[in-house]
Amino acid sequence: MLQAQLTLDPAFRVAPVHRRTFGAFVEHLGRCVYTGIYEPGHPTADEDGFRGDVLALARELGVTTIRYPGGNFVSGYRWEDGVGPVERRPRRLDLAWHSTEPNEVGVDEFVRWTAKAGVEPMMAVNLGTRGVQEALDLLEYCNVPSGTTLSDLRVANGAKEPHGVRMWCLGNEMDGPWQVGHKTAREYGRLAAETARAMRMIDPGLELVACGSSGASMPTFGAWEATVLEETYDLVDFISCHAYYEEKAGDLASFLASAADMEHYISSVVATADHVRARTGSRKRINLSFDEWNVWYMSRVQAQQPTVDWPVAPPLLEDHYHLADAVVVGSLLITLLRHSDRVTAASLAQLVNVIAPIMTEPGGRVWRQTTFHPFAQAARYASGEVLRVESLSPVHETAAYGEVPLLHTVATRGDEGTVLFAVNRSVEESLELEIDARALGDVRIAEVSTLGGADPYARNTADDPTRVTPRPNTDHRSDPLRVVLPPVSWNVIRLTA
Ligand code: AHR
Repeated sequence: MLQAQLTLDPAFRVAPVHRRTFGAFVEHLGRCVYTGIYEPGHPTADEDGFRGDVLALARELGVTTIRYPGGNFVSGYRWEDGVGPVERRPRRLDLAWHSTEPNEVGVDEFVRWTAKAGVEPMMAVNLGTRGVQEALDLLEYCNVPSGTTLSDLRVANGAKEPHGVRMWCLGNEMDGPWQVGHKTAREYGRLAAETARAMRMIDPGLELVACGSSGASMPTFGAWEATVLEETYDLVDFISCHAYYEEKAGDLASFLASAADMEHYISSVVATADHVRARTGSRKRINLSFDEWNVWYMSRVQAQQPTVDWPVAPPLLEDHYHLADAVVVGSLLITLLRHSDRVTAASLAQLVNVIAPIMTEPGGRVWRQTTFHPFAQAARYASGEVLRVESLSPVHETAAYGEVPLLHTVATRGDEGTVLFAVNRSVEESLELEIDARALGDVRIAEVSTLGGADPYARNTADDPTRVTPRPNTDHRSDPLRVVLPPVSWNVIRLTA
């Protein structure tokens, strides 16, 4: 068995645990909205047509913030299509996903859903086919209490209280040539700056997110962030990051080390933002909103193209996740927490059916994908402060990232006690972990929960929904603190006095 050691010390404080780290994303894409969160006629649907089974799992997932309505969808979206009497709403072509958008769900329904789910709505404005005026109109509709045409329209549509949306994304992935209204960094930076300036005239307290790159592999990565921030630095609060990972060519070892790429991504964007800050002499610090991240088998997208032209809510991007995918999701969460000093918001993309932790059958069952579990456990048990963990771990050589430690871990300390989140990235070997927690006083292991199993490719299905689920790990002792982490596993180790 391989051996690893780590030291826990309350002095190794990184930053507070930001609740917004546990955000997710609902896009008008495939079956995320229709037959996902919304399905009137479903046996569990409530008076608003929201699926009760999905709401219950969203609450159990512990998601805190939901980004809406896209994604690529937002770059062609007219928000006013989605308000007012449903029977009068237009049906539109959605160019992003080659679908028909029925507009049965719009901003009012979405905000009503977030209230039921107990989450914060985070809104994106269309800076693809639209601009400053439409962003202002949506802001007026959502946040102005009453007394103007658009705020009174919201009241007339049944939302007496303002929606009070605090966090706004200024467009989505505007560097991507696939995007309707795709722009150069300078064009987008100027438009984002004008939009931000105008939105702040209505409410200076908004939290605004400028679009970073669509991913670290984009040819303009780095230069894009630098130019956009040159234009927007003092007008925005966040720059966005997006990253998706998948196992390629059967290389499980590299896939399990995907967080190495995310670490590098975060450090690069932080360095760029701080460089622009130094150049502008600004006193403000720009944080990162990692508002799309997940495992996504993009290579399967082609195979999933619908055969019907412009369908409504076709089954798109419906990845069925296995154990190793969940371990990678856990490792990516560890990375987001390790960077809590600068990553202060994040959104798992997405929530239901579309590359999602929750899956549904239209008219039928709902189940937790494997990736549900690390997210739910991190959202449940991470509290107080993030602690950097000093560790000594065996390494493995990966084709994609070179030498990578097998142990990937972070700790938090707060109302939920001291909790260690740990991934064993080894494909074959268990890792015996010795924990030096003397700086915490007299502590013992209260509980270890492990998501693992003999088959890294095991999945949950509607017929076998608990095949991959966290189980108590009794392979631990307290003097000295030791726990055995199986290969390809996500582990939550809770300490107690
Ligand atoms: O989450 C799926 C898609 O991925 C989003 O619409 C887009 O922003 C990204 O490319």
